Amino acid sequence: MSAPWFVAGTGPLVGEFVVNGDKSVSHRALLIGALCDGPVEVEGWGESADTRATLEAVRALGVTVEEHGFGRLTVHGVGLTGLRPPVGAIDVHNAGTLMRLLSGIVAMQTSGTFSLDGDASIRTRPMERVAGPLRAMGADIETTAGCPPIVVQAGQQLRGIEHVMEVSSAQVKSAILLAGLRADGPTTVIEEIPTRDHTERMLRAAGATVHTTGGRVVINPVERLQLERVEVPGDMSSAAFAIVAATLIPESRIFLRGVGMGAGRTGLLEVLERMGGRIAVFNRRTTDAGEPVADLEVAHAELSATSIRPEEIPGLVDELPILALAACVAHGRTRVRGAGELRVKESDRLQSVCEALRGVGGHIEVKDDGWFIRGVPTRLRGGLVEPHGDHRIAMLGAIAGLYSEQGVTINEPETIAVSFPGFRELIEAATAVRRS
Ligand code: S3P
Repeated sequence: MSAPWFVAGTGPLVGEFVVNGDKSVSHRALLIGALCDGPVEVEGWGESADTRATLEAVRALGVTVEEHGFGRLTVHGVGLTGLRPPVGAIDVHNAGTLMRLLSGIVAMQTSGTFSLDGDASIRTRPMERVAGPLRAMGADIETTAGCPPIVVQAGQQLRGIEHVMEVSSAQVKSAILLAGLRADGPTTVIEEIPTRDHTERMLRAAGATVHTTGGRVVINPVERLQLERVEVPGDMSSAAFAIVAATLIPESRIFLRGVGMGAGRTGLLEVLERMGGRIAVFNRRTTDAGEPVADLEVAHAELSATSIRPEEIPGLVDELPILALAACVAHGRTRVRGAGELRVKESDRLQSVCEALRGVGGHIEVKDDGWFIRGVPTRLRGGLVEPHGDHRIAMLGAIAGLYSEQGVTINEPETIAVSFPGFRELIEAATAVRRS
């Protein structure tokens, strides 16, 4: 365990913030790349502990991945059913996305027993939400009292099903769609609230037929996938920390280039704008693999409280911790509803966010399905943040430190590497420029 990290209050943040490649798209570039016929060139891949787990997992499954440095990879796809089970379990470490998407992928392989396991935190996360629908498709899949380890006996001919999602989850939707690549007919996932659609976009770019209409996502089985190139956008969930920091700290003005603006990922911008945030979006474009991206300019603004509704949650699910910080220093009372899913993330985020923000002087209470936050529009007092092994809580602590009077100490800062290894250097560089 590394030494605690102390982040002092700072003056304006100015200039460009370079965010890492999107974690969701980076996982998918490897997993879908592995299923393609022939090589797939990946650019802008976001290296982190989670995506490294995916890289090692596909290698363990017999896929060659060349690393050229600076986020460039070549994934030598082995085709839809070319994965081979390694000796022993595939270690997903802390990566829930890997665990869930890979379950769907190994379920549609033609033979072999695949075991999926991970760290102590992942062993507490719910997996029946994936195993249930895969079983309904005919997969032979066992969880351990609903959690990992998972064992999949491949070789079953899967059936196309119509699945109505019980929880809003892009990971569950993706696992079903990936298994549907080799079902005996179309597979339909019905979602009440749309979730991020990176899987659908990448599969379409690779030649699959995936239609989305009115909450129904339908995939047809395919013979093969082929994808020349995947450009990974900047990660909105990482950018979120810089966006909120620049919004809170007076006289700040920052730029972020090439940030992913996909459906289900821009909820933070919408809510911040509603609270009075000043975010300009320009240079909108779409990558070859179908991902919308844009450049952002964020300037300081005074924020007012808002109400976050259940239907907004999937669009900002990973940004809720940092949004809670913004609400703590906004004018008025903010209520967040329908966020019960936060209880089953890398930590129980309803609790861990509350504990972190209270520890630095915020006024926040946990409710059944969210938070009640009484905003006080001044710098936070500061204090100690215990991340509980959760990367987003550690980063929340750092941004709270930047907008505090006495600074914030973050325990286990190494946990940040789960999603954003360069975060600390970025924050230290931005504040060093100010001091010099
Ligand atoms: C992800 C989906 C979200 C998100 C996670 C990444 C993905 O999870 O919280 O960090 O890549 O599909 P759920 O959709 O399961 O809530």
